[in-house]
Amino acid sequence: MTGLKSQQLFERGRKVLIEGVSSASRGPSTFGGAPRYMSHGQGARLYDVDGNSYIDWMMAFGALPLGHAHPAVVETVAREVAGGTHFATALQVEVEVAEMLVDLLPHVEKVRFANTGTEAAMAAIRLARGHTGRRKIIKFEGHYHGWWDAVLLNTNPLPPTMFGHPNDPIRIPDSSGIPEEAWRDTIVVRWNDVEALERAMAIHGREAACLVTEGIMSNMGVIPPKPGYLLRMQDLCREYGALFYLDETVTGFRVAAGGCAELYGLDPDIVTYGKALGGGLPMAMIGGRNEVMSGLEWGKVLHYGTHNAGRLALSVTKVMLQTLLANDRAGFSVLRDRGLKMAEAFRTVARASNRHGVICQGVNSMFQIFFTDREVISDFREFCTHVDRLKFRDFTLRLMDKGIYMNPSATLHSLSSLAHSDADIAATAKAMAEVLDEMP
Ligand SMILES: Cc1ncc(COP(=O)(O)O)c(C=O)c1O
Repeated sequence: MTGLKSQQLFERGRKVLIEGVSSASRGPSTFGGAPRYMSHGQGARLYDVDGNSYIDWMMAFGALPLGHAHPAVVETVAREVAGGTHFATALQVEVEVAEMLVDLLPHVEKVRFANTGTEAAMAAIRLARGHTGRRKIIKFEGHYHGWWDAVLLNTNPLPPTMFGHPNDPIRIPDSSGIPEEAWRDTIVVRWNDVEALERAMAIHGREAACLVTEGIMSNMGVIPPKPGYLLRMQDLCREYGALFYLDETVTGFRVAAGGCAELYGLDPDIVTYGKALGGGLPMAMIGGRNEVMSGLEWGKVLHYGTHNAGRLALSVTKVMLQTLLANDRAGFSVLRDRGLKMAEAFRTVARASNRHGVICQGVNSMFQIFFTDREVISDFREFCTHVDRLKFRDFTLRLMDKGIYMNPSATLHSLSSLAHSDADIAATAKAMAEVLDEMP
């Protein structure tokens, strides 16, 4: 049960905030009622205003690879804030963090900092259009690249009658208020389907500024790419002269030091990062080779922002990278091992319970639980037709009552952090076993 203080805050909040929160994913449309209002976090734990504590597997949608209030982050913020919060000037730490990123990512020679994944994607696509002189962009069903007009198509689960033919998905904006001109040049393609992609590229490839993809489908749970699929996508981009834009907002500094590009051996033309990059503060970046990134020089392709490259956020980014990269990148092994271990612990309790059709899909530190009759969910359409999202919400709300926090939306996913311990994994698995037994 959501505690009394959270209930009261929700009643107060909904009078002055839309749905009592600042993003639909935090409010009643996701929770089915009052969300739990959180007061503070420490390590792997979140604490709500009613005094309940939770092992947090959401980690701010992936923004916290080090966990809550990591000592290095707390010390950095305390030290830096005393010297001023934000200058909107050139900074030493800006150069230092950019050098770290360029050292780390072979496909990145220049970076430009922004604040959120949405902003970075907006700039990246404007840059792709500027660089190629082409208008069309190709995106995939179920892939999310922020909430802005040109890409907010087919990002929510749909009924099968709205899918359209696999070679020609019906394009559906996910919001009112998006004029058709904004997405007229956006082509939507089925993901993880080489033939559909080859066909779409044959039709649109020569007019496409870029193809934008998540490396792992991360906004329909966790759906990994089929072997060789992303490399084929990259080859097709090269063949048709469209830029290959890999959106690493979720996967960057998560699944490997070099993100999906490293994991799947890719050489993207443009990448964007957000979430984990800022270690809990707002930080994002657009990166790529000089030849492409130079389009942003002298405002040829314009990208501005009062809060770009904030010194507090950059200082935390620096310490976050140092922490994950220390001892030969040991942090990434810890993230991966904790994620794999939690996913496996869930599979073990699900097998033992044997009462529900349920699977767990993951890649390194990311995983998601699907209530489904399938052995694997490999694309958006399967997700929409074969994943029981209400049952997942029931599962997560029951887990919350037992002190385990996962976002109730099956379209999202869970994430490990450096702060998750073996004891957290064991406690989570125990609660999961109880919930599976209790659930109808
Ligand atoms: C793949 C991807 N790109 C972009 C974004 C947008 O990032 P932000 O929420 O920081 O604007 C998200 C957010 O979930 C995302 O998952």
